[in-house]
Formats: sequence, C-alpha cells, structure tokens
Amino acid sequence: MKSKIKEIEEQALGEISSSAAERDSLEAMRVKYLGRKGIITELFKKMGDLSASERPEAGRLINILKETVTRSLEEKISSITAYEVEEKDKIDITLPGIRGRIGKPHPISETIDEICNIFVSLGFKVVEGPEIETEYYNFETLNIPLEHPSRDAFDTFYLKNDSNQKFLLRSHTSPVQARFMEKNTPPFSIVVPGKVFRPDATDASHSFMFHQVEGLAVGDNIRFSDLKGVLANFTKQMFGKNTKTRFKPSFFPFTEPSAEVDISCIICRGQGPVASGQKCSVCGGKGWLEILGAGMVNPKVFEKVGYNPEKVTGFAFGMGVERIAMLKHGINNIRLFFENDVRFLRQF
Ligand code: DAH
Repeated sequence: MKSKIKEIEEQALGEISSSAAERDSLEAMRVKYLGRKGIITELFKKMGDLSASERPEAGRLINILKETVTRSLEEKISSITAYEVEEKDKIDITLPGIRGRIGKPHPISETIDEICNIFVSLGFKVVEGPEIETEYYNFETLNIPLEHPSRDAFDTFYLKNDSNQKFLLRSHTSPVQARFMEKNTPPFSIVVPGKVFRPDATDASHSFMFHQVEGLAVGDNIRFSDLKGVLANFTKQMFGKNTKTRFKPSFFPFTEPSAEVDISCIICRGQGPVASGQKCSVCGGKGWLEILGAGMVNPKVFEKVGYNPEKVTGFAFGMGVERIAMLKHGINNIRLFFENDVRFLRQF
C-alpha cells in the first residue's frame, strides 16, 4: 500500500506540473485523482481490504496524498488566475484608439477673432472695455440725449445706483470710444469686441445678450472716404472679394454724418429675385443685407473727451457679431449660439 501511495503521488504531481496551464485540463486532473471515482478516492475505498493494524497508517498516508495533490492543483490554478489578470491589463495595440475630443473656440469667438484680425491687418489695435458701464459713458459721452428711447428702462438693463452714478449693463460697445479717447492722444485706430445687453424678448434674431465689434479711427485728416475704403476692404475680406458695399444715410447721435452699411447679398449675390422668380430668402429679394452702422465722429463727442474738433477728425462704426456669423454660416436662429448643444457647436 505504501509503495502504491508513493507511486500515485509521483504520477499525480508529475502530470499536474506538466499539464497545460488551462482551467479545463486542471479540472480533468482533479476529476481523475480527487473526483467521486478518482484514483485517490478509490484508495480510500480499498482501505476496507486492509487489516485493522494497517488501516490507521494507510489512512494517514492517503490523507497526506490527498492534501498534496489538492495543494498542487490549487497552486497551478492560482498561477492561471494571475496570468489571466495580467493579460487583461495588457494593452491590445491592434484595437482602434480612443480619440480624446479636443475643444475649440465657440463660433462667436471665432467670428470675433476673424473680424478683429482683418482690422489688425489694416493697422487697427484691439482694446476692450467694461460690461458694467455708467450712464455717463453709455449715453452722455456719446451725445445721446436724456429723452432718447435707448435710455428707456425697456431698452437698457439698469443696475443698483450709486449715490452719484447710474450703473447699467452696456447696451453697445460705443462707450469704449470715450474711455479710450480720454486716455490716449490721436492718431490711433482701434476695434473693440465685447458683449452687450438689451432687455429684448428672445426670438430667432434677438437675444438679451449679444456681441458687437466697435471701430474708431481718429487723426489729423480722417475723411469719410477713409471710412468707405476701410469698410469695403473689410467686407471683401470677410465675405469674399466680389462683395459690394453700399452706404445709406442714417442717424446716430454720436456720428455726423451717419450711415447704414449694406453688403450685396452673399446668397443671391445681389440678384434679389432668384432665377425661378422667387425672392431670395436671406435678403428678402432686396439684394442687399444691412450689416453695420457707421459715420464721422460727432464733434460733440470729441468735446466731451477734451479733443479739439477743429484739429481732429475721425470715423466710427459698430457691427453685430451674431448677425455676421449667421450670414456667413447660413444660420437662421440666434438662439443656436447660446444653447450650447455640442451637436451644433461641433459643426464649425
Ligand atoms: N452703437 C450702435 C448700436 O449699438 C452701433 C454703431 C453705429 C456704432 C454707428 C458706431 C457707429 O460706432 O458709428 O446700435
């Protein structure tokens, strides 16, 4: 019996150590030795054939054999588990990679950059001003009279008053004109991008917050023809070299004379009625799109900042960024810019 046990031990340990490190073959090994009809189990059954004096010793040896084989199987199984965990952590370089999404500027920021870069190429400098303004800079320096409708609470967001200052969210970027002129001496030409606020009900073309780019050039002998040249150059760079520009007489308290500036429709190319006899849906068949207000700086504005209107002249202009971005990209609803739907934003 003793030699039989020794023989089985050698055989079992040899087979286990040379068996493939796979769950199936080790399970087969367990069944072969320790299963209900396994070799070691059978040994226990054969103990009945032994004499009463041999039995205790045989039982002890078979138990040791059982333990040795069990331990050997367990060791092999734990080595597989360790291997499997290691394999799982390995990087499969044949799999397609996971691309990180890279952020990008918002289409409005991009349009602001594009506008400013064109003016920078024409010698303008970019400056900024505060979004919370005083009534003095938002209206007074710009020659906007007390009874002007834009001073009305329905047209402007007023904030809590200080004892001697009325604060508001700026309704345009024009107040930066006076802020800049007070601290600088001509000649200079600047563009001022920024947010502006008006308590308008939101619809497809209105938002209570939107962006403008203001322009101001002041110097010795700046003329209306300079304004025309600069804006014609800007519209060609912005909308394409075949874009035509048209100036219509208008009124702004801070410029005299004032103009509204149109560009030839970028969709129907100024045709108005399109081939089929239908009207162009972007310009409504007019062939022109209004894109900005402009004019020669009113002498009263110069006086407010301590410039001598006999010595300096200048031009100014202001444009809405959202309108320009909508025209450029064929977007028909201003709200899309502010809803932050990545499906919309990713298209730019
Ligand atoms: N501030 C005007 C507005 O918000 C836009 C504007 C018009 C600005 C004419 C100008 C200008 O500088 O000359 O409606």
